[in-house]
Amino acid sequence: MLVQFTANNQPIKIDVDPDAILADVLRDRLGLKGTKISCREGECGACTVWLDGQPVNSCLIPVAKVEGRTIVTIEGLGNIESPHPVQERIAEYGGSQCGFCSPGFVMSAAALLRDHPSAGRAEIVEGLSGNLCRCTGYVKIIAAVESLVDRDSGE
Ligand code: FES
Ligand code: FES
Repeated sequence: MLVQFTANNQPIKIDVDPDAILADVLRDRLGLKGTKISCREGECGACTVWLDGQPVNSCLIPVAKVEGRTIVTIEGLGNIESPHPVQERIAEYGGSQCGFCSPGFVMSAAALLRDHPSAGRAEIVEGLSGNLCRCTGYVKIIAAVESLVDRDSGE
């Protein structure tokens, strides 16, 4: 089947298996390998992308469901030359070790800070609860995100 959507501001028109999963299409057909796949069950958040601006587990989404919609992956958020502030801060705080979970955390955290710029610690912890990390113990990731909170925004 033919599916059309927007990925990182690029119009995509692609012939895919109707059962294909968004995470696989992003990685294998579009070369957007920053999106990671681990559990394939919606449990780890490694595959987090934005769908119409909201973070979702792309391992759970049939690509047919994104017809006409807008995807942003980690490649669309920032890169080495022009990192997103969350990427910069997680790196500064040592919140990435093997790095496998990092793109998913960044996608979730960036959406959280966009929607709740003055989020408290509990809100940050809750907002990132769908993302798992086996390396860092979470403390440095949470601290990095917390350091970006706008305490004066009066949200
Ligand atoms: S690979 Fe999608 S949530 Fe784990
Ligand atoms: S840095 Fe290795 S899983 Fe998070």
